[in-house]
Amino acid sequence: MCAPRRARPTPTLFVGAAHSRHRLEAVFEKISVIGAGNVGATLAQRLAEKQLAREISMVDIIPGLPEGKALDMWESGPIEGFDTRVTGSTDFILIQGSDIVVVTSGVPRQAGQSRSDLLAVNAKIIKEVALKVKELAPNAIVIMVTNPLDVMAYLALKTTGFPKSRLMGMAGVLDTARYRTFIHEATGASMKDITAFVLGGHGDSMVPLPSYTQVAGRPLAEILSPDKVEALVKRTRDGGAEIVKLLQKGSAYYAPSAAVAEMVDAIAKDRKRILPCSAFLDGEYGIGGVYLGVPAVLGRGGVEKIVELNLKPAELEALRRSGAEVSKDIEELKRQGFVS
Ligand code: NAI
Repeated sequence: MCAPRRARPTPTLFVGAAHSRHRLEAVFEKISVIGAGNVGATLAQRLAEKQLAREISMVDIIPGLPEGKALDMWESGPIEGFDTRVTGSTDFILIQGSDIVVVTSGVPRQAGQSRSDLLAVNAKIIKEVALKVKELAPNAIVIMVTNPLDVMAYLALKTTGFPKSRLMGMAGVLDTARYRTFIHEATGASMKDITAFVLGGHGDSMVPLPSYTQVAGRPLAEILSPDKVEALVKRTRDGGAEIVKLLQKGSAYYAPSAAVAEMVDAIAKDRKRILPCSAFLDGEYGIGGVYLGVPAVLGRGGVEKIVELNLKPAELEALRRSGAEVSKDIEELKRQGFVS
């Protein structure tokens, strides 16, 4: 009599879909990126490589672009060692069920343009996109990237009706990274040992804070002369324009996408990191009714708390002036009928 046949063991070299899902370190199901241009696509790649969700999806209006970039990116998975699925479509239905939606759709500035010059053209795009997010991803945390940043975040907040904790903008992490890079260049210290904050609006009125800048714990003022610090602050303020001028077409995207990825990581992993980001102020720092760059605790709840630093009078004054600049653009948004 034959012995009963034993069930064949699962082949160990084959990893089925269910198994590969299990192996993922991903913490979110889906992160969507609206706009598969320079910032959006570079961000999607960074998020996939960091495996911050099981699926990274890109949506754009140009037929073939999001699909093509997504497939190309996904095919880098075996080499880069990620199991995250990368998808793309021109159909917004793809964002359904997203935990995070990053909005990068819109026109970047060209040489000679300020971020505010993009207001009308990008407001139209952001209004449309925000309505789609409201309809298809009503529980998502939204990170706005499109410029003029603080104003577009305001427009998206008003259009979606999301709580302010679930809608923020990326600017401070980028501005701070630029500032830290220039400090690294001036001091020779490792980038990793330089901590700093840049607050305020994402524009000419941004407020780098030398009093909160340290190199391995030493205040910057002990290491560099006031003139040198002022020169670094100025270069930071003009950091975006410096790249626009060099590129001659379009604006920065490597550092911006890295900055968004850092914010996504803080949220996805509930790290409670304090990062400078554009958050809706409701009386903090004596400012209300605008989005402005401030330090915020980022975790699963989005912007969980705004941190009020003890600023010097001149710094506080600069922050309030920056808020007034953003208010002017919000007035323009209202004048053009995008919000009431
Ligand atoms: P890009 O031109 O390379 O990409 C933008 C993409 O958005 C294009 O592929 C376009 O087809 C798409 N798009 C336009 N309307 C759309 C819609 N209704 N739905 C979906 N997709 C749509 O521009 P880039 O360099 O990626 O910049 C994107 C935005 O991010 C710009 O407004 C730029 O100023 C801003 N930005 C903001 C930064 C920040 O610190 N907050 C830093 C860098 C860029």
